[in-house]
Amino acid sequence: MRLQKKSPCKVNLLLNILGKRPDGFHELETVMHPLNLFDEIRFERGGDGIQLTCNEPALPVDSKNLVYRAAEAFFKLHNVRAGIRLHLEKKIPLEAGLGGGSGNAATTLLGMNEIFGSPLPGPALFALAAALGSDVPFFLQNQPALATGRGEKIRPLDHFPALRGKAFLLIHPGFGISTPWAYQNLARFPEALNGRPDRAQKLVAKLQAGDLRAASAEFYNSLEAPALEKYPVLALFQEFLRANGALAALMSGSGSTTFAIVDNVDAAESLVEKFKSKFGQNCWTAIVPI
Ligand code: C5P
Repeated sequence: MRLQKKSPCKVNLLLNILGKRPDGFHELETVMHPLNLFDEIRFERGGDGIQLTCNEPALPVDSKNLVYRAAEAFFKLHNVRAGIRLHLEKKIPLEAGLGGGSGNAATTLLGMNEIFGSPLPGPALFALAAALGSDVPFFLQNQPALATGRGEKIRPLDHFPALRGKAFLLIHPGFGISTPWAYQNLARFPEALNGRPDRAQKLVAKLQAGDLRAASAEFYNSLEAPALEKYPVLALFQEFLRANGALAALMSGSGSTTFAIVDNVDAAESLVEKFKSKFGQNCWTAIVPI
């Protein structure tokens, strides 16, 4: 039995960190938006235990890989003697703040459950997902969401009228940023570390009211404090994008991807051209219709 699934990614329209918790994680509120930009995971029942292959040589294919860990967690809870062959075809960049790895983990849980006859109910999948990583539960559903806690508590939201017909332009600078590094270095920025807790509601209300101009003033990411200090080029990207027609520009997650919201796909294409003639051809870019 075989199965093939698309594994999506996301941007954070807002990532507001509220403080450090006793368990070492950070309490936060975030507005996450799914992207129609995918890795692919192939599942085939058979063999012995978990066998994982991947087209990306930089990724391990053992228990350090989130796909492997998700399959392992599934087998542990759904106690069967069975084997699975998995192939991960990466297209989303690594350490990019796009949640590619978290999406892979969630998609693996969904695919495993499907190929083994749906033994696990939704709540069990959510619990497994939260144990695999803070962003993983978001990818068990496919709508924008407001996430709280350490990011694992998900409130799905309807698609935002303010973004209808618009496009995301994604720019990855060619280097990654490690998530633990970003969180550790936030300690040097007390204001960013201890955000005020009402930003998410404000942003969501403006996006739902269809007012992108007002909403764009509410886009915010606490993790820009350490990231833009270390990599000032990321601040230059945003300035350039805003000066050349982007309706909003922000770093996603812990970086290193910058995203812009643009009027439509045509506008995004001409903005990419301009961007590349200014900053060179070395960045990875993608245009994603909303
Ligand atoms: O949960 P996840 O494994 O994705 O987190 C990766 C790292 O990011 C954690 O080890 C922690 O350093 C940091 N993190 C955090 N607070 C969060 C989410 C992640 O400190 N809410």
